[in-house]
Amino acid sequence: MDEKIIDIKGVSKSFNGKSVLKDINLYIRKGEFLTLLGPSGCGKTTLLRMIAGFLLPDEGSILLDGKEMGDLPPHLRPLNTVFQRYALFPHLDVYDNIAFGLKLKKVPEEEIDKRVRRVLKLVAMSDYEDRDVETL
Ligand SMILES: Nc1ncnc2c1ncn2[C@@H]1O[C@H](COP(=O)(O)OP(=O)(O)OP(=O)(O)O)[C@@H](O)[C@H]1O
Ligand SMILES: [Mg+2]
Repeated sequence: MDEKIIDIKGVSKSFNGKSVLKDINLYIRKGEFLTLLGPSGCGKTTLLRMIAGFLLPDEGSILLDGKEMGDLPPHLRPLNTVFQRYALFPHLDVYDNIAFGLKLKKVPEEEIDKRVRRVLKLVAMSDYEDRDVETL
């Protein structure tokens, strides 16, 4: 498939006059798995924050599923971000941490169960679903 699900066009970003990202052009097609690799401070998180809508580019545009995101806030974008830290809710077990976003989206319970179990299996963590995240 060559459907572009993320399309970054000429994106630039500076902080206090210091250029961090300059004219970034990159697209990701459906089914592709992409890793951003680079030294600390090269702008990986900055790019992810702009894709998610937590930060706006100074120049350029970001299209998700072919739609220009403009200044659309994070919760209205068809995308989720898992942060480097604080990614887990301490009061929820493993299963409920994974199910959280799907519950918010009001995905049917049966579908949530199917999807949570599928990803747990994928990362070989099926035995951990009832674990408190503090004990991982
Ligand atoms: N809100 C901000 N205000 C000022 N400078 C910032 C801000 N956010 C990031 N920077 C600067 O932008 C540059 C890129 O930071 P960024 O966090 O995107 O790097 P990174 O590639 O994710 O690094 P790491 O591998 O350490 O996570 C760094 O020089 C950083 O200090
Ligand atoms: Mg980072």
